[in-house]
Amino acid sequence: MKQLRPLVAGNWKMNGLQASWDEAERLAGFLSEHASLAADVMLCPPSTLISQFATGLSDSSLLVGGQDCHPEVSGAHTGDIAAEMLADAGATAVIVGHSERRTDHGETSELVRAKAAAAHWAGLMAIICVGETETERKSGETLNIVSTQLAGSLPDGATAANTVIAYEPVWAIGTGLTPTPDDVAEIHAHIRSELNGKLGEEGAQMRILYGGSVKPGNAAELMGVANVNGALVGGASLKADDFWGIASVYLPG
Ligand code: PGA
Repeated sequence: MKQLRPLVAGNWKMNGLQASWDEAERLAGFLSEHASLAADVMLCPPSTLISQFATGLSDSSLLVGGQDCHPEVSGAHTGDIAAEMLADAGATAVIVGHSERRTDHGETSELVRAKAAAAHWAGLMAIICVGETETERKSGETLNIVSTQLAGSLPDGATAANTVIAYEPVWAIGTGLTPTPDDVAEIHAHIRSELNGKLGEEGAQMRILYGGSVKPGNAAELMGVANVNGALVGGASLKADDFWGIASVYLPG
């Protein structure tokens, strides 16, 4: 099977001010020094920084994405951001359905699917997050939850080029806990088989990221698991050195 080009995406969440440009610039520097890195690398800063980052990084291979978008194109939705606005600011992708959105804002898979469709309409790649809570895991529901979220959140027209899936167990986000490599292998294989079943060859080529407490110290092991095609990184993406410590597992040799 063709080797999928991994994606290492950093989700800055509600962190970052204009001074954080220094970290983006430093990360871009690592990428230009290591053009042989066999992965795409992306930062998803808060919306306020997208334009600054995208403009400043236009000569770099470092990609810029958003963290959420509204399902509608425009309108009376105070405080929300449309996918087209993210694209206009220079983003090429957007995270949708992150567990913090699902929890803090009560987002359903139906809404996530509408957001992913809006992202596609605006020409953005959608990074669709799925993952079980600790309670669901303890009751043995992980695979069911992941299947249900995936089926509900994938929009029509999803392809390997416009969609990435991120498996993020909620209990592993920001906790320092991670599933075992065997658990990750089982869940990613399950997602792969669901994608194959729904989308055929496009599903076989779609990247599946692992997210949840990825750090420089565990990245090589987690990224080495079958069907793990990169990482979605929160806390460890805020510092360029740490984030590079993760992305650099994809240096050849
Ligand atoms: P974490 O967050 O790396 O800080 O655990 C991951 C995420 O929420 O995407």
